[in-house]
Amino acid sequence: MLQTHNYKMNPFSCFIKVVLLITLFTLSESRNCNNTDHILISKAFASVSNFNTSWFKCSNTTISQINLPSKNLTGTLSWNYLKNLTHIHTINLSNNSLKGYIPTWFWSTPSLTQVDLSKNKLGGAIYGSGSGLYSAQVLNLSYNRFTNLVNLSSFSNLYVLDVSHNNLKVLPYGLSSLMKLQHLDLSSCNISSLLKPISDLGSLEYLDVSNNHMSGKFPNDFPPLSTINFLNISFNNFTGSLPYDKVQRFGNTSFINSGMLFKHANVTKNHTKTHHAPKTMSLHSKPKDPNPIKKHEKSEKNKKPFWKKRVFLIVVISGTLGLMLLAIGVSICCVYRKRKMSKKNKWAISKPVNHHQPFKLDKSGPFAFETESGSSWVADVREPTSAAVVMFEKPLMSFTFKDLMAATSQFGQESLLAEGSCGPVYRAVLPGEIHVAVKVLESARGMSHDDAVCMFEELSKLKHPNLLPICGYCIAGNEKLVLYEFMANGDLHRWLQDLPTGKTNIEDWSTDTWEYPIDSSSPEKMEWRTRHNIAVGIARGLAYLHHAQSVPIVHGHLVPSNILLSDYLDPRIADVGLSHNQVNSPSTDSDVYSFGVVLIELLTGQTSSEEMVTKTRKLVRDGRGVDALDSRLRLGDNSVSEMVECLRVGYLCTAESPGKRPTMQQVLGMLKDIHPLTTD
Ligand SMILES: *[C@@H]1O[C@H](CO)[C@@H](O)[C@H](O)[C@H]1NC(C)=O
Ligand SMILES: *[C@@H]1O[C@H](CO)[C@@H](O)[C@H](O)[C@H]1NC(C)=O
Ligand SMILES: *[C@@H]1O[C@H](CO)[C@@H](O)[C@H](O)[C@H]1NC(C)=O
Ligand SMILES: *[C@@H]1O[C@H](CO)[C@@H](O)[C@H](O)[C@H]1NC(C)=O
Ligand SMILES: *[C@@H]1O[C@H](CO)[C@@H](O)[C@H](O)[C@H]1NC(C)=O
Ligand SMILES: *[C@@H]1O[C@H](CO)[C@@H](O)[C@H](O)[C@H]1NC(C)=O
Ligand SMILES: *[C@@H]1O[C@H](CO)[C@@H](O)[C@H](O)[C@H]1NC(C)=O
Ligand SMILES: *[C@@H]1O[C@H](CO)[C@@H](O)[C@H](O)[C@H]1NC(C)=O
Ligand SMILES: *[C@@H]1O[C@H](CO)[C@@H](O)[C@H](O)[C@H]1NC(C)=O
Ligand SMILES: *[C@@H]1O[C@H](CO)[C@@H](O)[C@H](O)[C@H]1NC(C)=O
Ligand SMILES: *[C@@H]1O[C@H](CO)[C@@H](O)[C@H](O)[C@H]1NC(C)=O
Ligand SMILES: *[C@@H]1O[C@H](CO)[C@@H](O)[C@H](O)[C@H]1NC(C)=O
Repeated sequence: MLQTHNYKMNPFSCFIKVVLLITLFTLSESRNCNNTDHILISKAFASVSNFNTSWFKCSNTTISQINLPSKNLTGTLSWNYLKNLTHIHTINLSNNSLKGYIPTWFWSTPSLTQVDLSKNKLGGAIYGSGSGLYSAQVLNLSYNRFTNLVNLSSFSNLYVLDVSHNNLKVLPYGLSSLMKLQHLDLSSCNISSLLKPISDLGSLEYLDVSNNHMSGKFPNDFPPLSTINFLNISFNNFTGSLPYDKVQRFGNTSFINSGMLFKHANVTKNHTKTHHAPKTMSLHSKPKDPNPIKKHEKSEKNKKPFWKKRVFLIVVISGTLGLMLLAIGVSICCVYRKRKMSKKNKWAISKPVNHHQPFKLDKSGPFAFETESGSSWVADVREPTSAAVVMFEKPLMSFTFKDLMAATSQFGQESLLAEGSCGPVYRAVLPGEIHVAVKVLESARGMSHDDAVCMFEELSKLKHPNLLPICGYCIAGNEKLVLYEFMANGDLHRWLQDLPTGKTNIEDWSTDTWEYPIDSSSPEKMEWRTRHNIAVGIARGLAYLHHAQSVPIVHGHLVPSNILLSDYLDPRIADVGLSHNQVNSPSTDSDVYSFGVVLIELLTGQTSSEEMVTKTRKLVRDGRGVDALDSRLRLGDNSVSEMVECLRVGYLCTAESPGKRPTMQQVLGMLKDIHPLTTD
């Protein structure tokens, strides 16, 4: 009965027959598949939950790739079954929750060239068997739990090696034999060895050893810098001094707290020019980058930004791994006038030591920071550890301004998310994987320490699913820094407008802008239901502010760029309570008006402006609301009347006379009535 195999017979067929019989009874998915490789895969993943055998086509051909990144695979792989997959060349299981150890023999699988096991919970050793050389060329083991027993001597074909974010403690053995290595990432591995063993790696183009305790002397213990395009040795304990002319091309952020001193003279003047990873590049990439091999083959100068870009992107995306660490961005706004004023006074308020020195590498303050647009802010503290970061939800975490500096590359350009009309916003990942957006409140410079504490404490009490929560603050001299949860989907304005990311348009009508990868083909944007849900969410948040407090809280600056979107596209209103010291104190009526404008933008897809509002109002008044609707919405179906109805709510909210505008409570009611499916 087993004579009718149509796959190639092989020496293991006896075994296979047995496996086949077992499989027939145990694995329902593969009941109809008698392909050898298919069976092996099913067995290998038998104790991995969320695995689905139907991901692999049952055909008579051999399986050469296991490409299952981000499938929420949980459990332990039975590596032994992979042994006989003789044609396998790529294994990509990154971003799952695989546990256990990788057996030594695995690496000697003859055809294996690319292995990406990053972001799992794999542990133990990576150990060469000592016999023969392995074929692996690209190996990514980052973000796992590998320990110090790593011996790489047999991996001499590697040209990309990423073992970052493991707990290696010492430099892996055998690194020096990887003579083809072009890309080496050993960052955040708690390594306290000498760098010297890798000083012979002559092909390196990318080297990241940041965030360890490595020692060594420049330049003798370093690999030849001439071929290196990307270098990061920050946060280590190296000695020696860096000749500016040799290292300037890497940018200053490559050397923060590396233990080495610059030969200072010319470093800072050219600071802004030497940044090799413009922020427009660092965040603009799509999650699915082409694989490292292709990029390496291109061997272009733009390799450097590419890698950097990837690292940044993954930092962003990794935030979503833990449920609580969802990424957020914040945009905050204040009044124009205020900004102009504070700009004028800036230097008077907080005297910087040196106007030409945006990064101060010394240990004691004041610390001056420069943003891309050329404005500056100064943390006037002597010891960066003396300014505590107060975390509301995590009172046991003790961070200081120093940690913020470390987490933002000293508030470097690559951490800058946005520059709005009331101050720069930075992205930071604090120890413990706490992903935050840090906003420098320029408008609060004049506020006293106690008043600021009071304000932050009050704001922290405002809790609503549609308000962007403040998670902490830090007062450093005159500067008040507020920490928000970080949001991956950016703000409503960008989302709606499909804005190309990376353009911070400071004079934009809607002020703050955020950079995120935006998928312009996203089907959600065409969904009426999504937009309706966003409208209802914003209305809920505002109604909470206006009606659920003893004294109504006025937002005062509700614009689409101030509304951030969670992973599930739920809106979170940012910047609550921070425009309180405006001159013309706004009222709840003006919030209702602003809400109406947001609603109009949401329905029409057009960036709102006064003319836009007037035009839309006229169309609604003339009963031609349907002509104003965003053409991207699926206008064919029967929800058009709902959309028009919703637009009419926007019309009511933007009534010229404040007295005629509905309250947010009424608005919420009307919006909920429009689409009965929206649950409360
Ligand atoms: C293997 O499957 C093919 C079709 O899927 C079938 O024609 C063939 O008879 C099967 N062989 C065995 C040994 O069951
Ligand atoms: C596997 O995927 C198929 C099709 O994608 C689906 O019908 C099936 O229910 C899945 N099986 C499991 C166990 O999830
Ligand atoms: C696989 O089967 C197809 C027909 O289903 C056949 O054309 C092809 O030659 C087979 N390939 C191998 C390697 O047996
Ligand atoms: C990792 O997987 C999670 C779900 O398991 C997903 O939300 C996240 O986007 C993935 N990250 C990347 C970088 O693909
Ligand atoms: C991942 O799988 C586990 C069960 O194995 C499940 O509880 C969890 O919700 C899944 N997570 C995602 C993001 O699908
Ligand atoms: C793999 O092949 C070998 C023969 O080279 C055999 O002894 C072994 O049982 C096979 N293992 C599996 C899991 O099929
Ligand atoms: C590493 O492996 C090589 C051979 O693979 C062996 O010669 C060497 O002794 C090993 N080093 C250590 C420290 O285990
Ligand atoms: C850095 O190296 C110096 C000596 O070179 C040593 O005294 C110091 O303790 C080291 N610091 C760390 C954090 O390892
Ligand atoms: C700094 O630049 C000046 C010219 O701008 C040059 O003469 C001097 O040698 C440089 N110093 C160092 C340490 O590179
Ligand atoms: C600083 O940059 C300018 C142009 O960007 C260049 O002409 C000058 O030589 C640079 N100075 C040093 C010391 O590299
Ligand atoms: C593995 O898959 C992820 C997600 O698709 C991708 O970003 C990564 O580049 C892949 N790894 C390799 C080595 O191709
Ligand atoms: C390795 O994987 C991590 C996480 O998936 C990613 O951030 C990193 O860019 C990858 N390294 C390389 C060299 O592709």
